[in-house]
Amino acid sequence: MGIQKVMVIGAGQMGSGIAQVCAMSGYDVLLHDLKEEYVEKGLGTITKNLSRQVEKGKLPAEDKEATLSRLAASTDLNQAKDVDLVIEAAIENMEIKTKLFAQLDEIAPKHVILATNTSSLPITEIAAATKRPEKVIGMHFMNPVPVMKLVEIIRGLATADDVYEEIEEMAKSLSKVPVEVNDFPGFVANRILMPMINEAVYTLYEGVATKEAIDDVMKLGMNHPMGPLTLADFIGLDTCLYIMETLHDGLGDDKYRPCPLLRKYVKAGWLGKKSGRGFYEYS
Ligand code: CAA
Repeated sequence: MGIQKVMVIGAGQMGSGIAQVCAMSGYDVLLHDLKEEYVEKGLGTITKNLSRQVEKGKLPAEDKEATLSRLAASTDLNQAKDVDLVIEAAIENMEIKTKLFAQLDEIAPKHVILATNTSSLPITEIAAATKRPEKVIGMHFMNPVPVMKLVEIIRGLATADDVYEEIEEMAKSLSKVPVEVNDFPGFVANRILMPMINEAVYTLYEGVATKEAIDDVMKLGMNHPMGPLTLADFIGLDTCLYIMETLHDGLGDDKYRPCPLLRKYVKAGWLGKKSGRGFYEYS
């Protein structure tokens, strides 16, 4: 019968983006979060994104309405009993994720694949919290989800080949480009991206150049769409620090030590764009 109905857990920046692309591609989507207000905020972001596309003439108004009609709100995890795929995009915390996957394993029918959008936590460990580790897989979307083409598809140690293939097809049906990756800390995207961002923070910390100069070098010299410090603010400095710590702990190599300046900013609550201040200020 294949995948028709998808439950997305977590209505934040990533979860709402994933829900949007799934609904735009014809899937029925349940967007789930702990509180109704969180889900409403996520649905509001999706509506705003779609309206912008309509205003620009890039999306017919009826497609916007059709997409919105395929989206429903959920605050009851038991609704996982009626879906074909769960994509979890909750907070990056192993304890929360393993608890969630153990619950989902109890609720969702046996055929349901449980995917996680974790950006760096081990898929194998999340899978071990369930009795269906062969049906647990990583599906790592990039931010902003509606724009970025890549989905890293991460095989846990026990992930079955047919599950990998089904998720690869599903990612293609979202007009994304799936890339196969094995389960190691940070996978590929963050194994490479985060040390670059961390090095940019060290470059600032050591006074090699100003933040604007560092960003200009990478934008104008390497054709990156955003400089690394702007990108760090966009991703969230707490997320960057968390991923660096995951690389440091998981790979045991000091080359992944987070820059003290990154720690200091996070301690100050300067988390980037979402908190109004990071390396730059946002109104
Ligand atoms: N949601 C939806 N659409 C968005 C958006 C958002 N948050 N931000 C921008 N867009 C859309 C715009 O509507 C516009 O669409 P159209 O082309 O259809 O008109 C398009 O993206 C381009 O936007 P802008 O012209 O406003 O701005 P831009 O050209 O500067 O592009 C950007 C913005 C796409 C974010 C670009 O700066 C970029 O690619 N930055 C790098 C992003 C990146 O590296 N992401 C990966 C982060 S790492 C990660 O996600 C992994 C992790 O685990 C941490």
